[in-house]
Amino acid sequence: MDIRAEKGRPEKFPCELLLLFSFESSDQLEGSIKNVDLEWKGFISALMKQGDFKGELFECRLLYTQGALPAKRVLLTGLGKKAEFELEKWRGAVSKAGQYIRNAGIKEFALPISKFDSFSEVELSESFAIGLLLGLYQFNEFKTLDRDKIKEIGEVTLLGEKDEETRLIDEGLRTGQIISDAVCMARDLVNGPSNHVTPTLLAEKARQIALDCSMEIQIFDVDETEAMGMGAFVAVAKGSQEPCKFIVLESNKGKGLETIALVGKGITFDSGGISIKPSENMERMKDDMSGAAAVLGTLQVAHKLQLPFHLVGVMPATENLPSGKAYKPGDILNTLSGQTVEVISTDAEGRLILSDALTYSLRYKPKAIVDLATLTGACVIALGNDVIGLFGNDESLLKRIEEASDKTGERVWRMPLWDEYFDHLKSDAADFRNVGTRVAGAIIGAIFLSKFVEKIPWVHLDIAGPASIDKERPYVPRGGTGVGIRLLVQLLRDWKIS
Ligand code: BES
Ligand code: ZN
Ligand code: ZN
Repeated sequence: MDIRAEKGRPEKFPCELLLLFSFESSDQLEGSIKNVDLEWKGFISALMKQGDFKGELFECRLLYTQGALPAKRVLLTGLGKKAEFELEKWRGAVSKAGQYIRNAGIKEFALPISKFDSFSEVELSESFAIGLLLGLYQFNEFKTLDRDKIKEIGEVTLLGEKDEETRLIDEGLRTGQIISDAVCMARDLVNGPSNHVTPTLLAEKARQIALDCSMEIQIFDVDETEAMGMGAFVAVAKGSQEPCKFIVLESNKGKGLETIALVGKGITFDSGGISIKPSENMERMKDDMSGAAAVLGTLQVAHKLQLPFHLVGVMPATENLPSGKAYKPGDILNTLSGQTVEVISTDAEGRLILSDALTYSLRYKPKAIVDLATLTGACVIALGNDVIGLFGNDESLLKRIEEASDKTGERVWRMPLWDEYFDHLKSDAADFRNVGTRVAGAIIGAIFLSKFVEKIPWVHLDIAGPASIDKERPYVPRGGTGVGIRLLVQLLRDWKIS
């Protein structure tokens, strides 16, 4: 899809469809819609007066202009109550309008953008690109039948009133496109089946990003990780025939910038291993690499937006399968940190591979570590599918994540990490076990991870719920969501360097 900014007036602009937004029950039309209404001899205001379009949030009404305007059609879309307007609603409304236009088979549209309230052209157009591109995302890679029936919008024009406004719109669009591209890339990886999205494919993807963005990359195989002492990562990888990859991607190395480590769980399929999962819904476990996908996406955006950080992305990637070579309950593993772990469940594999990845990340002496992982089913039970479980050891980092979340709409909810929870992980045979009892599963998972970050400010995001969803949200279709990228990019954009 080609989205661009152009100087122009909506009432004078020829196009297949002109998209206009309006607030709920506003007596007075405001901004560009007013000029279109004037040109159209009050058609829109008459329609609203009659109650045929109320402007309720996400309401859409298609109108035919019959030559009254250069645009062939107009789509009115509601923004809801003016007092409740925020960018999250804007992204949703843009997505709903885009889906309406696409489903109607219309391939091109235009719309005016002008600053509103405290929202600038840059913010509105960035959020426009995000709402549209993420809302229109489709995963059709493996569909071979009826490909000609797949509908797509080809061209979108955002109209600015003056040269300066058009330039600001263009600037916001470019940022929104960079972010959306990365989220869509992550969604493709999450939606991709595990027979395609293998650890090798993740490594190739990382290599490609490294090449495109001139980043440093290291990819360690099973022998190298074994030699380095990553007993936990290697144990999980042992049951699978598919080669494991420990991927380290680094941007802005050696430039004296602040270091931040991003660690992402990269289990390309989680069967549970010897502690095998029930077969119902097991196909969803192809999304168990969503953390790694989010790290890849975040690094790509950070490079393209030239965010001034030395970022280290650490992505342990492997399958978790049962076999004659698989690790077993009761096994004791030597982690890279030197601490030993008694395996109680081979299905709690995420925390094992992350323990070595977190320890590995410490050698970069990061200012902060953020990990993302589809870690526990318990987090989905606690918070549902639309909320990220937020854990950490540093109040200021936790706050920054919450502030970033308020801006991006990727909801987080803070969970406690009191020391007492650690009692659940006491082991008779080793330093600790990898699971507790059935209680507080998400917290126990996070407590386990906390033992591998020493004193570094650290945040753990349990994305088991939002990584892929069955029920669509306004600009998040069903399936892989690419959750976490927008949140981390916002965190970095707002970071005040000390
Ligand atoms: N990948 C799963 C967590 C998961 C579950 C993600 C459901 C998305 C949806 C993880 O490896 C796992 O199996 N965790 C176990 C931990 C338990 C054995 C302590 C779980 O949640 O059941
Ligand atoms: Zn598991
Ligand atoms: Zn898992």
